[in-house]
Amino acid sequence: MKTFKSMAVAVMIASLPVAAMATPTVKSQDLADKHPATRQVSAHKQTYGVTAQAVSKAKAYKPTDNYTATWKRADALKVRMDVTNTTPVIPADFPIMTDKVWVWDTWPLTGLDTKPLKYKGWQVIMSLVAPRDIPFGDRHWQARIGYFYSKDGHNWRYGGHLFPDGYSKGSREWAGTAILTGKNQVTQFYTASGHDGGGINNTDFQQRLAQSTGQIHADEKGVWFTGFRNHRIIAEADGDLYQSEEQSINSPIIYAFRDPFVFRDPKDQKIYALFEGNTPGVAGTYECTKKDLGNLPPGHVVPDNANLYTGNIGLMSASSKDITKAKWKLLPPVLSANCVNQQTERPHMVFKNGKYYLFTISHQFTYAPGLTGPDGVYGFVGPALRSDYKPLNASSLVLGNPPEAPVQNYSHEVLPNFMVESFIDTVPTGNGQVRFGGTLAPTLQLKVDGANTYLTRTLPYGYIPALASVK
Ligand code: FRU
Repeated sequence: MKTFKSMAVAVMIASLPVAAMATPTVKSQDLADKHPATRQVSAHKQTYGVTAQAVSKAKAYKPTDNYTATWKRADALKVRMDVTNTTPVIPADFPIMTDKVWVWDTWPLTGLDTKPLKYKGWQVIMSLVAPRDIPFGDRHWQARIGYFYSKDGHNWRYGGHLFPDGYSKGSREWAGTAILTGKNQVTQFYTASGHDGGGINNTDFQQRLAQSTGQIHADEKGVWFTGFRNHRIIAEADGDLYQSEEQSINSPIIYAFRDPFVFRDPKDQKIYALFEGNTPGVAGTYECTKKDLGNLPPGHVVPDNANLYTGNIGLMSASSKDITKAKWKLLPPVLSANCVNQQTERPHMVFKNGKYYLFTISHQFTYAPGLTGPDGVYGFVGPALRSDYKPLNASSLVLGNPPEAPVQNYSHEVLPNFMVESFIDTVPTGNGQVRFGGTLAPTLQLKVDGANTYLTRTLPYGYIPALASVK
């Protein structure tokens, strides 16, 4: 039992965010046969979200209330690929940002308002990086946070690791948020993955949320950092509001307690963090509710093991406006995907005209049995941080990979101007061959109308514009 379990989990995590190892043998035709919903890309918009008026009327709660919105099975059944939500195919001869490191999950240095910043004329992005000479699929177990800087927001120079060696918590650094406060103070929130000092170990799934503060410096030649010597764990899965690692023992896909996204809520001006979690309780004991299922069509059978898929988007609040010192308190999740999807990764938020656009990334292989959808970014909209979120485009699919390149893009972040940055994962090059990306993909522009989104433009590779500046 134990062997079977650990093997299954090891296989899952090996292919977890990238499916890189499985890719050479996966042909798009096989995927089409298994996943009819992703078979065709329609020339017309296939599903429409509710009206802007309906979004405004959706019920709003206090951030501390015990209300969790749901991504319902009935919503996910509406996933359809069309020209408004399908990522354009990336040519196999895409350029790379650096030949030193694989680059994947990326987030810009922002203010608490989530706007990417220009600091003394430079923009900075943080990326998960690993040496480019290790196999692409091994990168998660050696992940560090690296940084890049740029004058124009798309020609990026690699600056090295953000933290000095040996100081971060865990045995590797996973995704987070970098926030500039004061004159030059940068606080990096991140996932301390693996046990402290655990070395390279792909069966150690512990995940905790951590933070550390340093200073940014810049001159005409570039950007560098000092500090980041004090690191502290700010949250752990408690088994009560969020599933703990122990409770997840029977889960076919690893549990999550990762990817903190820190921001100031424009309504109450308090500071919160979203993160990826799972519904608490021993895996397999959850009972799917009517609110998880929605209005299902006749004949839709919910397979018994759908209850093993319990992703959610967690919330925690900071005790003070000084993020360097604040204590963090877990609150109930803002949204759950029980019986729909096991992973709602890298959740993040865009605030626009009083509306809250909640985005998350997810995979085809993490959908509960009886459902499917492409790897990509999914989204919801509501009138408040905690509210009865409505799925964008009726299904919540915002941008999915094209059927002929099912693991082409991943780890999207929707910026405050609805540009979407992501990285190139694996691109088919013909004859069953692939090229691994490990570099930023072309940025895509969305237009948002009520609860509907439209892909309208392809921008340069890795384009992340500054939307505010600090002198
Ligand atoms: C998404 C992700 C994150 C995690 C990181 C690990 O691509 O799975 O959830 O922090 O990658 O590499």
